[in-house]
Amino acid sequence: MTYRQARWEEPDIWDLAPIRTGDSPPAIPGIPEKLRRKEHIRWPELSEQEVMRHYTRLSQMNFGVDSGSYPLGSCTMKYNPKVSEMLARRKHAVELHPYQPESTAQGALELFWRLERILTKVTGMPEVSLQAAAGAHGEYASLLMVRAYFRDRGEAEKRTEVLLPDTAHGTNPASAAMAGYTTREIPSRDGCVDLPALKAAVSEKTACFMLTNPNTAGLFESEILDIAETVHGVGGMLYYDGANLNAIMGITSPGRMGFDVAHLNLHKTFATPHGGGGPGAGVLAAGETLAPYLPVPRIVKQGRKYHLDYDRPKSIGKIKTAYGNFGLDLRAYAFALTHGEEGLKHVARRSVLNSNYTALHLGKFLPRPFRTLVKHEFVLSGSPLKELGLRTADLAKRLLDEGVHAPTEYFPSIVDEALMVELPETESKRELDHYIAAFERAIHDTPENLRSAPHATSVRRVDEVRAARQPLLTWRDLRAAAGKAQTP
Ligand SMILES: Cc1ncc(COP(=O)(O)O)c(C=O)c1O
Repeated sequence: MTYRQARWEEPDIWDLAPIRTGDSPPAIPGIPEKLRRKEHIRWPELSEQEVMRHYTRLSQMNFGVDSGSYPLGSCTMKYNPKVSEMLARRKHAVELHPYQPESTAQGALELFWRLERILTKVTGMPEVSLQAAAGAHGEYASLLMVRAYFRDRGEAEKRTEVLLPDTAHGTNPASAAMAGYTTREIPSRDGCVDLPALKAAVSEKTACFMLTNPNTAGLFESEILDIAETVHGVGGMLYYDGANLNAIMGITSPGRMGFDVAHLNLHKTFATPHGGGGPGAGVLAAGETLAPYLPVPRIVKQGRKYHLDYDRPKSIGKIKTAYGNFGLDLRAYAFALTHGEEGLKHVARRSVLNSNYTALHLGKFLPRPFRTLVKHEFVLSGSPLKELGLRTADLAKRLLDEGVHAPTEYFPSIVDEALMVELPETESKRELDHYIAAFERAIHDTPENLRSAPHATSVRRVDEVRAARQPLLTWRDLRAAAGKAQTP
């Protein structure tokens, strides 16, 4: 079945409805008169059904995990369980204030504390902080911890370099640069870190090596223990980008692999909502060496009470106004409890199974640069499309017409015309087969249909360079700009 999205061009209720003017906004108790809006409101006169259809139509103009499979590699677009959503919307959760007295927020502090205990097990690291707001924030905070550690040792001046593999997620070098380090790229061999090249690159200048394992090609860095020994051998720190924990959760951990500090994206692995710049929940985990540098406050349990502890002299300080992103932490906690320890292992196994199953089938249509068993995601190369005058982006756009989302495009950059696919454990075999069939139809379509796709989405092909360079960050009435009726 092809999913058809509502379009901008379709008639809008705002164009059809008679407009009633003259009403003044109602007074709201407690809001001073001087802050009250003075102009009259223009209300469209509409029935409930018309309003319902309007908002349903608007919702259909978007694509999300509730609309269809969304295999963005490296982004882990999981279904967000509705039970977690219901819990996060309960009165007790939404009416909490981040700065209310500790004694009146004991339940929230207990939830943070318990989630931290779960995550120490998952990461294999003794201390966890939920404070970072997203993955990149966690990366940056980790590097500040590394810097504080070297400052304490009197080595901050000489430890100026952060090393990264050429498969690193773009935020890694950006965070390193923001933290004041120079970056140096380590090449890969068959998709994994080239160990001899790493050995040649490490030195007394090395502050940190930033790595994700499995890496962004979906491959497990099996030489990880040698990598750890190499970095530690010159006194450097090993940082784990744990956005991709889905493949290893409960099976192995950054702690067991020898990492000193890690960040996790709860908004990926723990099925909390994300995307479109939405809320995130980065989590920091630290081994013995770097734990004293974690941000304050830390949550401590004294007897049966929970406190925010600021008395950590080595800490890098505060990195966020409140402690953690409560709504997301609550959802992640619900996800962890729903699955239990064994369930989380099952999540990892199932995500690896989904990935290998899909790789096997999609590998019939496009070459896979690294023909090996993969973890949670895999990479295809769209380079054969070039013979038809097409690019990976054309195939990606055609997939949208099939009612499924495209994989991540053009990343990792070591693969020509890359497509990076991740269908997490929340997708059933039926959905995987549906995706494979959609992919097969799209890739066998005519070059012209691919080049002009998408045809059935609410917005057609956009100028992506302009969208990135000159984004419209506030609401505009595009139809009005195009000379059509104005919305009230
Ligand atoms: C491997 C990896 N690292 C880091 C990040 C950054 O996470 P965030 O988008 O939450 O800042 C991502 C996000 O896409 C990622 O895939």
